[in-house]
Amino acid sequence: MEFPKLRMRRLRKDKIRPLLKETKLSAEDLIMPIFVDENISSPKEIPSMPGYFRLPIDGAVKEVGEALEKGIRAFIFFGIPSYKDEIGSSAFDDNGVIQKTLRKVKKDYEDAVLITDVCLCEYTTHGHCGVVKDKVILNDPTLPILGKIAVSHAKAGADIVAPSGMMDGMVKAIREALDENGFEDVAIMSYSAKYASSFYGPFREAAESGYAFGDRKSYQMDIHNSDEALREVELDLKEGADIVMVKPALAYLDIIWRVKEKFKVPVAAYNVSGEYSMVKAAAKLGFLKEEDIVYEILVSIKRAGADLILTYHAKEIAEVL
Ligand code: PBG
Repeated sequence: MEFPKLRMRRLRKDKIRPLLKETKLSAEDLIMPIFVDENISSPKEIPSMPGYFRLPIDGAVKEVGEALEKGIRAFIFFGIPSYKDEIGSSAFDDNGVIQKTLRKVKKDYEDAVLITDVCLCEYTTHGHCGVVKDKVILNDPTLPILGKIAVSHAKAGADIVAPSGMMDGMVKAIREALDENGFEDVAIMSYSAKYASSFYGPFREAAESGYAFGDRKSYQMDIHNSDEALREVELDLKEGADIVMVKPALAYLDIIWRVKEKFKVPVAAYNVSGEYSMVKAAAKLGFLKEEDIVYEILVSIKRAGADLILTYHAKEIAEVL
């Protein structure tokens, strides 16, 4: 059949279009990042992320309550600890910032899905995601530490742990540590295909996780590669990942698509800090309509194949969904 019998525009009428939406975005698809800072007593706006705040522990609990009311169910917590050292001890301190936060949130909001970022960079003096010796980021000595962090988070109430450091074998190390400690039911969402991206700039200010030397290219992926992302995902799935993540999201829709097509497993995509800040900056200048742009970006990420989207726009967009 062809024109004039076939007319694509018939189904584009206002009344009909909503019936045929192939992609639907809902608040349940979103994971809201929360920065908890142990060193502050009132919310502190992050200069490079207008409208986003570092929160004291009580503020984080309150934030979860407000977001739940808007229909968001899942939260990922990043901590800014009261002390840092060479190996990131404050990350696996049972009285650390994340552990304290989880216990409080859990008490008030049993139904919230609590996810934790498992990494060293916010907790080490050098700001790298692994143990450092002679300016080299060491893989294997980092693994038991990641296991300890995950177990400590699980003890405090994490439902899902999310290793983000791109160390080889991190998923296996964490799965084993969790299982040995009776946390077989805690899931792993691995930052599987995490690129060495310039889009993370604002986050490093937000989480105080800038690094003292070098860059993250010895462990995060080369932006030029996509077959490599499939290998990373395959390995993480073999090691026991329950959900795999692609990060960043918007400039990496092709990767999301390939991962979903090939593996048919739950895929999360991280709409990162730089993507958020670009939208905010353009909106502030009046160059685009923020709400529409945010909606379109998130729909695009979902259409590409993401089941879940980590986004700093979560709360504002949940209001209009
Ligand atoms: C920590 C981590 C980073 C992000 C999430 N977890 C920063 C990095 O790897 O440098 C970035 C998130 C964002 O930019 O929104 N490993």
